Amino acid sequence: MTAIADPRAPHSAPRRKGPNLEKWGWVYMRASGVLLVVLIFGHLFVNLLTGTGIHQIDFAFVVGKFATPFWQWWDVLMLWLAFIHGANGMRTIVNDYVTHSGVRKTLVWAIWLAAGFLIILGTLVVFTFDPCLGVTSDSSLWEMCQG
Ligand code: HEM
Repeated sequence: MTAIADPRAPHSAPRRKGPNLEKWGWVYMRASGVLLVVLIFGHLFVNLLTGTGIHQIDFAFVVGKFATPFWQWWDVLMLWLAFIHGANGMRTIVNDYVTHSGVRKTLVWAIWLAAGFLIILGTLVVFTFDPCLGVTSDSSLWEMCQG
């Protein structure tokens, strides 16, 4: 019969020096979860339950939001918190289920690379968004973009 160690028993080896990243990851999941509830439900409420609801969502609606610093910061905060939360959650799942250490390390790297790339891309889009980019005289935005 195999003896299973007491789950609350302290590690036999002393813990390595430096910050306890696993603990901060655990804390981050809870703290970001609380903030995400506010940000995600605020986002859904404003987009779907105010004005004409879903019918108001078109290119002009997005242009309007990305022209407002408040919504730029709201969306970027949601992007960063959710991406890091999702990536850290996926890292936990990979660590739990992938037994081959090489495959596990590669997957965890791939998760952070993808998250980092998309966070940078999304942040650039939110802060540099220009609805007049590439607009030609046959576009309905032509008049607006002449100012
Ligand atoms: C609505 C707000 C959210 C709350 C309150 C929330 C809360 C949490 C908490 C507390 C955990 C840790 C669970 C554990 O350690 O056992 C967790 C895990 C996770 N979350 Fe979220 N979360 C939210 C939104 C999201 C979003 C938007 C994503 C995707 C981008 C996401 C993806 C994940 C993943 C992949 C895990 C790991 C699941 C696991 O360990 O089995 N969550 N979430």
